[in-house]
Amino acid sequence: MLLNDWHPVALSTQVTAGAMLATDLLETCVVLWRDSGGVLHAWEDRCPHRGTRLSMGAVRDDTLTCPYHGWTFGKEGRCTRIPALPEAPLKAQVNVYHVQELYGLAWVCLGTPAHAGPPAFPEFGDAQLRKVWCGPYDVRSSAPRIIENFLDMAHFAFVHEGILGDQQHPVIPDYSVETFDEAEYGSGVWARQCHAFQPQASKAATGGSDIEYTYRVVRPLTAVLTKHPPDSIREAIALLLQPLTETTTRAWIILALNDFTSSDDALRAFQDTIFLQDLPILESQHPARLPLTPGAEVSVACDRMSLAYRSYLKQQNLQYGVIR
Ligand code: FES
Ligand code: CO
Repeated sequence: MLLNDWHPVALSTQVTAGAMLATDLLETCVVLWRDSGGVLHAWEDRCPHRGTRLSMGAVRDDTLTCPYHGWTFGKEGRCTRIPALPEAPLKAQVNVYHVQELYGLAWVCLGTPAHAGPPAFPEFGDAQLRKVWCGPYDVRSSAPRIIENFLDMAHFAFVHEGILGDQQHPVIPDYSVETFDEAEYGSGVWARQCHAFQPQASKAATGGSDIEYTYRVVRPLTAVLTKHPPDSIREAIALLLQPLTETTTRAWIILALNDFTSSDDALRAFQDTIFLQDLPILESQHPARLPLTPGAEVSVACDRMSLAYRSYLKQQNLQYGVIR
């Protein structure tokens, strides 16, 4: 079912006209390229002749040329030239995928799109908020483990001690989780009015404070959190995952916040610090695939949001948090 969802695969700015970018999505090699009209294309990165990676070839006159025998393919993926046999019928066709650009990212759907587009992230359209792209971060774990870590507040005091948490304040007050279906936010599960004491909740924070959080899961591999500290800093963080394989993932993060004083680099460095603290934990979790069988792992009340996420995945028919 993930085959029919949209996944981020690159920053839009990474794919310039006349250039190619190779990436992976759901165990499929994908090549992105942009034609002279600025239109982005996402194809299987595999020549239908002998399986060579097309991304090793060239973009010329809005066609891709394979590096092995020089076959060329036009914008629709159809073979337009076979240099070794000019009279041969041109029946070869590259697999072509759905692609669109949103939030400064290129999004690909390998199957039949189950949604008109990528997940809702309304804060991105808020002109009061500045946008910063962080990552991407490559993780040797399944995408659902990374979402679950993002939804988890009880690790702050241990993994992010001194920044997002404090071992003197490890208690997570109870909170409730609900399903939602809203025009602005899309549908999924959310937890509102979560609270945590944080020594330094953001790059701009100057001291410890009680932070109100909301978390929402809007697609199997997309979650957004918003922070409402007592000062006027407002921040939404979108975690957008690119499942490379069942157990390897690239994480993209977009911040939408009203801190206009910190530099982009400083804001990114702050996210890097947090993510790199989570990384060894994520890569140590066993099994890498999120267990969806009740009782497979022991949970407590403050794990409500991750349990709600597991139920949501089950409803979406994502067995073991896997790919198909
Ligand atoms: Fe691509 Fe032969 S493998 S042209
Ligand atoms: Co963390």
